[in-house]
Parts: sequence; structure tokens; C-alpha cells
Amino acid sequence: VNGVLEIPVVFNVLYRSSSENISQSQLQSQIDVLNKDFNAQNSDFNTPNNPYSSIRANVGIRFVLDKVVRKRTNKRSWGTNDAMKKSNRGGIDPTSPTTKLNYWVCTIGGGILGYAQFPGGSSATDGVVIDSKYTGTNGTASYPFNLGRTATHEVGHWMNLRHIWGDSTCGNDQVSDTPTHNTANYGVPSVGHRSTCSGTPLEMYMNYMDYTDDRGMYMFSNGQKSRMLSVFSTSGPRASFR
Ligand code: ARG
Ligand code: ZN
Ligand code: CA
Repeated sequence: VNGVLEIPVVFNVLYRSSSENISQSQLQSQIDVLNKDFNAQNSDFNTPNNPYSSIRANVGIRFVLDKVVRKRTNKRSWGTNDAMKKSNRGGIDPTSPTTKLNYWVCTIGGGILGYAQFPGGSSATDGVVIDSKYTGTNGTASYPFNLGRTATHEVGHWMNLRHIWGDSTCGNDQVSDTPTHNTANYGVPSVGHRSTCSGTPLEMYMNYMDYTDDRGMYMFSNGQKSRMLSVFSTSGPRASFR
């Protein structure tokens, strides 16, 4: 890489109602959040009383809005079976998925805010899917997921991060500097919240890879940073983005 990694983002917007056809301004506000959150420039990065302040990461990846593709549909919700990524199922095929991050904006349904494909999968379905109501910070963005953190979380998965609780009780997220959690946290947990896992560590509920509300999550750890960057190394599964 010559300098900082820059990821072009293609938004694929599928809408039935005009409110689902979210504005360029709302899409740009999402890009702005990604740039803040991945560069330690988010306004809540220095939240006081963070027991993990010494391992907060500046990931150092930039995002740039490359293109917006829009398509009208009769579907009320798309689910999580990747139909939104396929023109032969009424969706939108990805644009250059080996060099651009494809981001589908649609109504998912079932209480799902978003989902992502991990590295190593088919390029035809590569990218992230995030509901229009949880994209960006203006327009239709809806509290408590109105600060663009669903995309920060899903892009974390796209860069190979697991949930901080390792998807099981006191599970392993494959990152050594994140503590074990009993399970997902919701809302905004109290300062000092501990897990009952071995060693009763303070939980890192302010991490983007927990399920905390948007206003309660504000950091990646240094260990998560190295796991993400390795995906883009010369031998990594997303080396084509370099
Ligand atoms: N994959 C998670 C879900 O769909 C996203 C969680 C995002 N959390 C947030 N605070 N925005 O439920
Ligand atoms: Zn997740
Ligand atoms: Ca860990």
C-alpha cells in the first residue's frame, strides 16, 4: 500500500417507498461516521472512565463514497438470504467487489439491523447489508441506532472481526486484548460492568463489536486493529483492496 488504505464504497439502494430511497446526504453521513470511527476521530472516542482507554485503536482506514446505484422494488423486506445482491432476484449485483466495498441499503425485516460477509467468501455476495433506518445519522436514521454504528460493526465483520463475546457464553473472539464477556450487551451498560467469566474482567461493552446502543459504543481495540489490517496484507483475503 502507498500510504493509508482507502476503501471505495458503492451504495446499492433498494426502495419500495420513497422514505427507503435515502438521500445522498444520509449516505454521505454514513461515510463520515466510518471515517471518524476507523480513525479515532469520533467525538466520543475520549469518553471518560473508559477502563480500556490504553488499548483504543486508531485503525487508520479511510472510506470514500464511490457510487450510488438505486433500484425500485416491490419487496417490503429482503431478509438475510442475499437476494438483495442478485439482479435475477430483483436485487442489485455488486460493482467490482474485489476492489470496492459494496453496501446494500434496504429494509431487511425481522428486527435485523444489518449483516456482513466475512473475508474468504464468494465475491458475488461480498459486502455489507444495512437497513435504511440504521444507515447514517440524518434523514430516516432511527434512535437508538441513529449514529451510523451498525455500519461500523458490520464493516468490522467484513474485516474479519467476531462479536466480542465470541458468540457463546464466555466465548473467544480470537482477539487477545479484548476480555471475555458472558454474552451480548444491549442498551448502554453501567460503567464498571463485569463479566462472570474466568477472572471476572470488566466487559468492553463500549466496543463496536458488542450489541450496545450506538451512543454507548466508541472503540476498537489494538488487537482488533491488527486482525483487521492482516486481512489487507499482501497474502490476506482482501489483498486486492491494497
Ligand atoms: N448484526 C447486528 C444486528 O443486526 C448489528 C448490531 C449493531 N449494533 C448497533 N449498536 N448499531 O443486530
Ligand atoms: Zn454482528
Ligand atoms: Ca478476546
